[in-house]
Amino acid sequence: MKSLAQMPALPMMIAAMLFIGAAHAQEPGEAWTLSQGGKLYDNHWLVTGKPAPVKRNPDYPADVKALPADTWRCVSCHGWDYSGKDGHLGKSRKPPIFASLRQAAGKKFADLKTAMLAPGHRAYVAALDEGSIDALARFVSAGQFNAGKLMPGGRSVGDAVAGREIFEGACISCHQADGKAFIEGEAGDQPALGWVAKNRPAQALHKIINGVPGADMLSLRFLPEQSRADLLAYLQTLDDSVD
Ligand code: HEC
Ligand code: HEC
Repeated sequence: MKSLAQMPALPMMIAAMLFIGAAHAQEPGEAWTLSQGGKLYDNHWLVTGKPAPVKRNPDYPADVKALPADTWRCVSCHGWDYSGKDGHLGKSRKPPIFASLRQAAGKKFADLKTAMLAPGHRAYVAALDEGSIDALARFVSAGQFNAGKLMPGGRSVGDAVAGREIFEGACISCHQADGKAFIEGEAGDQPALGWVAKNRPAQALHKIINGVPGADMLSLRFLPEQSRADLLAYLQTLDDSVD
C-alpha cells in the first residue's frame, strides 16, 4: 500500500478536481449543443430572440399552407422526421424543395456547415450567428432520430408500461396525468399530449428529445433510444380527445 506521503498532495488534487469541474461546467457539452441545434431547427428566432421573419420565403411552395414566418424554419422544409418529402411532409405532395436530411446523419460536421452556407441555401441560415450554425450542423450530423426504426407507420415500437414510469416520474408535474394541462403547440395542434403523440408522433419525439424553443420543456436527449420509444408508446395510449 502507498503511504500517504507517496501520494500527490491531497489538497492539491482536490483543488485541481474542483478547478476542472468548474471549467467543465462553463463549457456547453455535446448534449446541450445537440439539443440547442434541435431547438434552432424547430424555430430559430424563438431561440436567438431575434424578430420573426415577416415576409414569406419566396422559395417555399406557394400552394403549401403555412404562416409566412414558418416558411423559414428548417423543419418546414426538412420535416420533424428529417425526411423531407419522403416523410410526413410529402403526404399530400412532394415538392423538390422538401429535401431529406436522413443521408446527412453521420456526415462530417464541417461539410454540412459548407452545404448549409452554399449559395441558394444560405438564405435560410443568413439570420443566424456562427455558434447557431455550428449547433445546427452538429445536430444534423449527430442529433437526428430514426423515425423509420422508432415509429414505423407512426406507431412507436416501444413498451408503454416502461414508458409510463418515465411519464409519472418526469412529466406529470407539468403535463398532468392525462397529458391535458394546457399546451399551445404548433398551429393546428390539440392541447393534449395523447393527441400530439398519435397525430404528430415525429413532432412529439423531436420536442421531447430537444425541448421546446422559448418554453420550460425539458430536453430528454439523455434517455437511451429504447426509453424514448417507450415514452412515446405510453403517450400514444393517453386519451386524445379534447373537451
Ligand atoms: C425552403 C426550404 C428549406 C429550408 C427553410 C431549409 N432548407 Fe436545408 N435544404 C433544402 C434543400 C432543397 C436542400 C438540398 C440542397 C441541394 O441539393 O442543393 C437542403 C440541404 C440542406 C443540408 C445539406 C444536406 C446534405 O446532405 O449535404 C443541410 C445540412 C440543411 N439543408 C440544413 C438546414 C437547416 C439547419 C435549415 C434551417 C436553418 C434548413 N436546412 C432550412 C431546403 C431548405
Ligand atoms: C417543467 C415543466 C415540463 C416538464 C417537466 C415537461 N414538460 Fe413537456 N412541455 C412543457 C412546456 C411548457 C411545453 C410547451 C407548451 C406549449 O407549446 O404551449 C411542453 C411541450 C411538450 C410537448 C410538445 C407538445 C406539442 O404540441 O408539440 C411534448 C410532446 C411534451 N412536452 C412532452 C413531455 C414529456 C413526455 C415530458 C416528460 C418526460 C415532459 N413533457 C415534461 C413543460 C414541461
